Amino acid sequence: MDTSPNRIVVAGGTGLVGRKLVRALLDHGFRVQVLTRNPQTLHAPAGASACGWAELPGLLEGVSAVINLAGEGIAEGRWTSSRKAAIRRSRLETTARLVSAMQACAKPPAALVNASAIGYYGPRDAAPVEEGAAPGSGFLAEVCQAWEQEAMKATALGVRVALIRIGVVLAREGGALPKMVRPVRWFQGCQLGTGKQGLSWIHLDDLVAMLLEAARHPAWEGPFNGTAPQPLDNQIFMRLLARRLHRPLLPVPGFLTAFAAKLLLGEMAEALLLQGAFVRPARAQALGFQFRFPTAETALRDLI
Ligand SMILES: NC(=O)c1ccc[n+]([C@@H]2O[C@H](COP(=O)([O-])OP(=O)(O)OC[C@H]3O[C@@H](n4cnc5c(N)ncnc54)[C@H](OP(=O)(O)O)[C@@H]3O)[C@@H](O)[C@H]2O)c1
Repeated sequence: MDTSPNRIVVAGGTGLVGRKLVRALLDHGFRVQVLTRNPQTLHAPAGASACGWAELPGLLEGVSAVINLAGEGIAEGRWTSSRKAAIRRSRLETTARLVSAMQACAKPPAALVNASAIGYYGPRDAAPVEEGAAPGSGFLAEVCQAWEQEAMKATALGVRVALIRIGVVLAREGGALPKMVRPVRWFQGCQLGTGKQGLSWIHLDDLVAMLLEAARHPAWEGPFNGTAPQPLDNQIFMRLLARRLHRPLLPVPGFLTAFAAKLLLGEMAEALLLQGAFVRPARAQALGFQFRFPTAETALRDLI
């Protein structure tokens, strides 16, 4: 069993966020163990090792932190009832397994940094949303609340728990941005629905830096919005994107794009594309967290 100090276990460390996070942790001198469903096939980067869920609970003995990013992709298919069940179960069960493994440790981890999402707040109007806001309603809000409650059970063991309510992650490697870039590049970009819905985004590098801070610093406890300080509405964001790509946006009426999105994606379109919230990272900023990409212009200039 690896009991070296400065060891961090990353659950779901093979995804969009996890891959970059693992490299950043290694760069900062941590020993990293990636907790994955496929330890045999994972080629972990040098300095990291791959572990299976069957290796719990011993794996968590005395680690500096567990960072939990595991869960079925939210935007990878229509939200059928079985898909919704998988999205919910994959988060709640993995988090419950981590917490129960911590219970079995003689020396539980110092910290659990658990992913959550701005879906916690549900659809909102244009007023800024900070961490103290009440939870919203709808499928994602309900999943996020239950997910956070599961993670918070670790506090009973003296584990510091930080919940990072992640916004739309902007990255070259995957996630929402390449899907937004493609139609604009092919002269088919347009705003979605009214265009007034909030789009609370974060550059992948800033999110990775935030997760690293949350793992290392005792002041990071409780919920934090993992979003950039400048959320925008969908219309303004799409205009910035179009300008960056030197393309026009099509003047398609909002009701038509809303209709098409709902037809293609069903309930998921409402929750992820046609509604939103203007979420601000008040608590991270209060702790002095510095964003490398505070505005959408700086983020898009870097990524495109
Ligand atoms: N990307 C975003 O824009 C965004 C926004 C808000 C919140 N988040 C949240 O942040 C976390 C990380 O995001 P991401 O974009 O890096 O996600 P991702 O690319 O989909 O990676 C998530 C990882 O979770 C593991 N996983 C998938 N299905 C699972 C299941 N049924 N049971 C156990 N583990 C499973 C996978 O690891 P293995 O295959 O190695 O087991 C996968 O690599 C996710 O929980 C996501 O909900 C992301």
